[in-house]
Amino acid sequence: MGALDDIVCSPDPRLHQVCEPIDQITGSVKQLAKRMLKCMYAADGVGLAACQIGEMVRLAVVDVDWGAGEKNPYVLINPTIIEANGEEITSEEGCLSFPGIRVPVSRPSHVIVQALNLDGDLMQYEAADNLLAVCLQHEIDHLNGITMIEHLSPAERVAAMRRYAAALEAGARPGDTTIIE
Ligand code: NI
Repeated sequence: MGALDDIVCSPDPRLHQVCEPIDQITGSVKQLAKRMLKCMYAADGVGLAACQIGEMVRLAVVDVDWGAGEKNPYVLINPTIIEANGEEITSEEGCLSFPGIRVPVSRPSHVIVQALNLDGDLMQYEAADNLLAVCLQHEIDHLNGITMIEHLSPAERVAAMRRYAAALEAGARPGDTTIIE
């Protein structure tokens, strides 16, 4: 069983559940973060939320830089958006839980996120007009049971799900044509 087999794909109901806060950074939380990073890199993703491998806790990993060569992972425990503003920008998002499709999603261009890291330090991440800004919002959405599809209009959603069904039919696997996890 490879790392990609761990990934929960739509229409799995776990993608629509709200994840539980982590109250202690135990060894199993550290193990989970490690597993998630392995999975994200194996799938060529730039982010992954714990619920995407079936663990219903508020943990996400992000690395938007590693395509350029060096790995620079962020592990976000109990992340919260403390500011999301600026102009709405639309970008083509992908998701490891929706193999084979991308959809245009509009989000605020500027975001400030606070989260604990694996050492229990409260970290602050600020991003604007870039992939990190999109990715942070996309992953925190996952922890709230929201996928990129929920950002679409009803008509767009139907069309996207039709393309998704076709992609699955054609054998799409997590990581195929995605830019974000
Ligand atoms: Ni995703």
